[in-house]
Amino acid sequence: MNKKFLDLGNQPLANNYLSKFKKKQIKYKLKLFFNTKSKMVSISKRIPSEMMFTNNYPYRSSMSKTMQNSFYELSLEIKKKFKPKKILEIGSNDGALIKNFNKSEAIGIEPCRNLAQITKKMGYVTYNNYWSHELAKKIRLKNEKIDLIYSANTLTHISDLNEVFKSISYLLSSNGILIIEDPSLLECIKKNSYDQFYNEHIYLFSAISVNSLLKKFNLEIFNIKNLETHGGSLRYYIKRVINKKITISRNIKIQIKKEMIFGLHKFSTFKKFSQKVEKSKVKLLSILNSLKNKKKLVLGYGATAKAVTILNYCNINNDLICNFVDTTPEKINRYMPGKNIKILKYNPKILDKYHYVFLGAWNFKKEILNKEKRFLKNGGKFITHVPVPKIF
Ligand code: TMP
Repeated sequence: MNKKFLDLGNQPLANNYLSKFKKKQIKYKLKLFFNTKSKMVSISKRIPSEMMFTNNYPYRSSMSKTMQNSFYELSLEIKKKFKPKKILEIGSNDGALIKNFNKSEAIGIEPCRNLAQITKKMGYVTYNNYWSHELAKKIRLKNEKIDLIYSANTLTHISDLNEVFKSISYLLSSNGILIIEDPSLLECIKKNSYDQFYNEHIYLFSAISVNSLLKKFNLEIFNIKNLETHGGSLRYYIKRVINKKITISRNIKIQIKKEMIFGLHKFSTFKKFSQKVEKSKVKLLSILNSLKNKKKLVLGYGATAKAVTILNYCNINNDLICNFVDTTPEKINRYMPGKNIKILKYNPKILDKYHYVFLGAWNFKKEILNKEKRFLKNGGKFITHVPVPKIF
C-alpha cells in the first residue's frame, strides 16, 4: 500500500528554465509516498517523459570536476575488474562516462537530442531514444551481446521499473554485469535533503528496495558502494542469480542493516522526516528574511533542479535571493523555474557583488568552497539548508 508522507506543494518542471519569467507557469503537485510492501519511496504525479527530457535538456554531467572524476575512476575500475568488450550506458548524457572508453567499445542511449548529438559527434554509437524493450531488441540485433550495462541517475526517472529491468535482463549477456547508481534514500533522510525530490525523480532507491525489486528478474546485488556524488549515492553492482562465479560481498548485508537500523522499512521514519522538512523551511525563510531586512544581497550558486524544489516549496522569490549563477550554457540568462530569479553566467568576480551565497549545488560544497576561497577571505558567507539551514 502507498502511504503519503510529504507534500512539497505545486512545483514547475524542474529543468524548464524559461527565457522570460512568466507569472503563470504550469505546476504539478509533488507528493511523496512510501510503499509499505516494496519499501519503495516514490512521487505520485507521473509527467510524460517527453515533457521533461526535451531536445534542449540543460543538465550536463561534465559540468563539474567531481562528476568527471567519479566517472573516470569508475571507467578504470570497470576495465580492470570486468574487462567488458561492449558496454552500454542508459542515459549517457554528454558522454562523461563513455568518453573514457574506446569508440568501438561503448554505446550510448540518450533521449535528449542536444546531448545525444554531443556523443555522436565524438564518434560514439548513440541511440537518441528512451530505454525500452523495443530498443533493447534493436540493439541486440546489431550486437551479439552486451557484457556491461551502466546507468547513473536515470533508472529512477523511469516510471515502469518492470519494463526497465526486464529489458536490461533481456540484453545483458549471461555473465554480464549491471551497474547502477542513484541518490541514496538513507543519505537523503539523514541530511534532510528533501530537494532530492522533483518531478523527474520518480523513485528514490534504497538497498532494501532495490534488493527486493531485483528478485523478480533473477538478478541480485553482489556489491554496493557509498559515493559522495549527488549528496550521497549508492552504486549497486548487479549480476544474474545463476552466475555463481562472482561472490557476494558482505557490503550488501551491512548496508541493508544500516538502513533497517535507521528505519527505512517503516512508515513512521518518513513521517518524522516530513516534520523535519517543515522545520527546515521555517528556518531557511527566517535566515533569508533577516538578511533581507539588513539589506544584504544573496546569490544562489548552482541553478540546480534541487534548488527549484526549495524555491517553490519555501516560496522564495528575488527579494530573498537576487540571482543565481551557473556554468551551464543552457541555463544562463534564463529564470529559475516557477520563480522570478534570473540565472547569470558564472565568473569568479560575480560573487563580489553579493554578501551571501546560497548553495543551490550543496552537493558540490567541497569543490565550490575550494574555488571560492577569495570570497570567503573577503568576508563573504555561505548559506546552506543541509542538514539544517545555517550560515557558515
Ligand atoms: P546537480 O546538483 O543537479 O548535479 O547540478 C549542479 C549544477 O551546478 C549544474 O547546473 C552546474 C552547476 N555548477 C556550477 O555552476 N559551478 C560549479 O562549480 C559546480 C560544481 C556546479
